[in-house]
Amino acid sequence: MGLRSHEQLVVCVGVMFLLTVCITAFFFLPSGGTDLYFREENSVHVRDIYVREELRRKEQDALRRKAEEANPIPIPKPEIGAADDTEGRRIFVKQMIKFAWDGYRKYAWGENELRPNSLSGHSSSIFGYGKTGATIIDAIDTLFIVGLKEEYKEAREWIAQFNFKESAKGDLSVFETNIRFTGGLLSAYALTGDKMFLEKAEDVATLLLPAFDTPSGIPYSLIDLQTGRAKTYSWASGKAILSEYGSIQLEFDYLSNLTGNPVFAQKADKIRDVLTEMEKPEGLYPIYLSMDNPPRWGQHLFSMGAMADSWYEYLLKQWISTGKRDKRTKREYEEAIFAMEKRMLFKSEQSNLWYFAKMNGNRVEHSFEHLACFSGGMVVLHAMNEENSTISDHYLTLGKEIGHTCHESYARSATGIGPESFQFTSSIEAKTERRQDSYYILRPEVVETWFYLWRATKDEKYRQWAWDHVQNLEKYAKGTAGYSGIRNVYDERPEQDDVQQSFLFAELFKYLFLIFSEDDVLPLDQWVFNTEAHPFRIRH
Ligand SMILES: *[C@@H]1O[C@H](CO)[C@@H](O)[C@H](O)[C@H]1NC(C)=O
Ligand SMILES: *[C@@H]1O[C@H](CO)[C@@H](O)[C@H](O)[C@H]1NC(C)=O
Repeated sequence: MGLRSHEQLVVCVGVMFLLTVCITAFFFLPSGGTDLYFREENSVHVRDIYVREELRRKEQDALRRKAEEANPIPIPKPEIGAADDTEGRRIFVKQMIKFAWDGYRKYAWGENELRPNSLSGHSSSIFGYGKTGATIIDAIDTLFIVGLKEEYKEAREWIAQFNFKESAKGDLSVFETNIRFTGGLLSAYALTGDKMFLEKAEDVATLLLPAFDTPSGIPYSLIDLQTGRAKTYSWASGKAILSEYGSIQLEFDYLSNLTGNPVFAQKADKIRDVLTEMEKPEGLYPIYLSMDNPPRWGQHLFSMGAMADSWYEYLLKQWISTGKRDKRTKREYEEAIFAMEKRMLFKSEQSNLWYFAKMNGNRVEHSFEHLACFSGGMVVLHAMNEENSTISDHYLTLGKEIGHTCHESYARSATGIGPESFQFTSSIEAKTERRQDSYYILRPEVVETWFYLWRATKDEKYRQWAWDHVQNLEKYAKGTAGYSGIRNVYDERPEQDDVQQSFLFAELFKYLFLIFSEDDVLPLDQWVFNTEAHPFRIRH
């Protein structure tokens, strides 16, 4: 019995061996005579095909390897609060940037933005409906600054082959295109000296020029780059918007200076001249302006936030970026802020929180927007550049108070993150009870103000507040392959909106990285940030 089963085993193994040999031979033998024939008759041709196939396979392997290396890199989810020194915190922010970038790269490359939970592309109406890689162009200076070299190189290659005119479809926002695309490319050039970026910046700005073809020179809000047709927003009753036409000058002046092509600076100067001529009601600038020549103000709405904000910012920064030679701009900035302090600055009753209210005619609305929190950083930057110490001290104090108010709007929510807009009433301060104002979309303005305050005062609390925000982003805004906005900051388990804004890279990540860096990384006496946080060189 034992012997027979042994024999069976031998037979079995033998049969299996033969089978294996047959199957292997079937796969490895040449598949037909034609190959052999060609190999003799036309060996060069055949070798070419083989070499090419081999190359293609190698290329595909390399690409796959690269994608595997770069993408699902399971960046170890760092312990929240693990980093307790400045360098550790800076590295932590860099890892966040890498994680968010890898997700975009893997799931939305070339699209405007990423949906970090749906793992697909996202776009918003400001970009029209083309695929114009907004995240790549908005992020590239940040990638460079934080030293993500491979990522920077890949972004650069994409931009080098990118044709904005061919890719852009539908109506684009002139303002957003200018601050993100022109601004991002100018900044990449300023940081690297790579001429390709400057050429691309000029291409983008040139495509925007038809929007300035109006009776007064005040540009339209929207433009179709294919046709050059420009228009105002349908909801703006034919009017232009202060923050939009007022935030052109930094980019256009810088571009003219770098290229020697004066047309851009001329467009920006025209807008400034028109504004200088206008009568300002009590020194204030209303949000809406007609497109006529001469133009007329629309409804008397005044704000430090949406639709006004970066106009004030650009007055100050224009003065700084020209090496403080432009005295007219300095005077107009001071007059504007002085008028707003007089009419619109309030202090809350219970906690003495300072804020700029909004005004409609003489009616005051006691609310302050997340966007308006940038004003703390703006007045601090003024203080840092002001020779008169009385004025400088005054604005440093104002900046600290606004930085504090905006921190309160964060501290008074369940997530530690502040809402889009908050109110001051007899019952609430720096909070909102309006559901529609309770969201957070990765906006940078509060961290931006803390960054300027850190540089100006070296008070550690600003770094701590920024670190708290990092931890809250990890807790509430981190999605599957990137970071997302949240729908309600007062909800302990907030729903995510599934959008990773391009300004997360351009602004929030950059300010977070810089607040944990030394002052010689983009020193403020040599660089000025546009309103999308793209740094330009000051022209001393
Ligand atoms: C650019 O600005 C610098 C510094 O103000 C100036 O010297 C130079 O002439 C400007 N270049 C052009 C082309 O305007
Ligand atoms: C500084 O500014 C204050 C307030 O505007 C003014 O009263 C004062 O004369 C100025 N000081 C100098 C030295 O210019």
